Amino acid sequence: MRIDIITVSPELIQSPFEHSILKRAQDKGLVSVHFHNLRDYGLGSYKQIDDTQFGGGAGMVLMLEPIDTCISELKSQRDYDEVIYMTPDAKTLNQGTANTLSLKENIIILTGHYKGVDQRVRDLFVTKEISIGDYVLSGGELAAAVLCDAVIRLIPGVLGDETSALTDSFQDNLLSPPVYTRPASYKGLTVPEVLRSGNFPKIDAWRADQAYERTKNIRPDLLDD
Ligand code: ADE
Repeated sequence: MRIDIITVSPELIQSPFEHSILKRAQDKGLVSVHFHNLRDYGLGSYKQIDDTQFGGGAGMVLMLEPIDTCISELKSQRDYDEVIYMTPDAKTLNQGTANTLSLKENIIILTGHYKGVDQRVRDLFVTKEISIGDYVLSGGELAAAVLCDAVIRLIPGVLGDETSALTDSFQDNLLSPPVYTRPASYKGLTVPEVLRSGNFPKIDAWRADQAYERTKNIRPDLLDD
C-alpha cells in the first residue's frame, strides 16, 4: 500500500511513522508513506496557500489551486483508490472503514488547517471524508496519523501475531473483554478463576459474555448496528 499525505505541517505528522508498528510496516515494505508540503505548491514568490473567506468571517481557507496542482501531479504518476479529506464535519472513523481502507493500494490523505479547504476541493477531488470524533483539532494532521495507524496495523503481515487484530475491540462491534496477567492475586484483587482453569471453551464463553456486558454498559449504541 502507498499513502500520500498532503499537509501544511509535515513536521506535525511525521514522527508517529518513525516508531514502533508504523515504522516496522514500512521497513517490511508493506506500506510506503510520502509527505507533501502544500507550501511547495503555493502561488507566487510568497508561496501563498490560503486566503480570506468569501462572504467574510474569521479564519483563512486553503486555496483550490495549490491543492489541485499537488493532487494532479500525484494522479499523473499512478491511479488512486481514494482521496480522503480529514475534517470534523464528516462521518466518524470506525473499524469497518479502517478494514476497507487497509485493502486499498494507493490512497491520498489531505489534511485541512485553519477554516479548512475551499469547498470546490471537496467537490472536485475528494472521494471520502473522515472525522476521527466529534471535537475540533487544530488541523487534520493528528487525525490523519490516527487514521493511518488504524489502517496500517490491519494490513496482512504488519502485526506479528496475525490473530491479534482480529480480537481487537470493535472487530465484531463489541468492546474487548477484560485481560489479566501475573500475579494471580494482588492486594486482595484476584484474577477470575475461569481464566486459570485451562478450560478453553469455558474461557471463550466467559470472554464473549464479558464483551457483551461491557458493550451493553459502555457503548449500547454498538449493539444497535
Ligand atoms: N480536523 C480537525 N478536527 C478533526 C477531526 N475531529 N477529525 C478529522 N479531522 C479533523
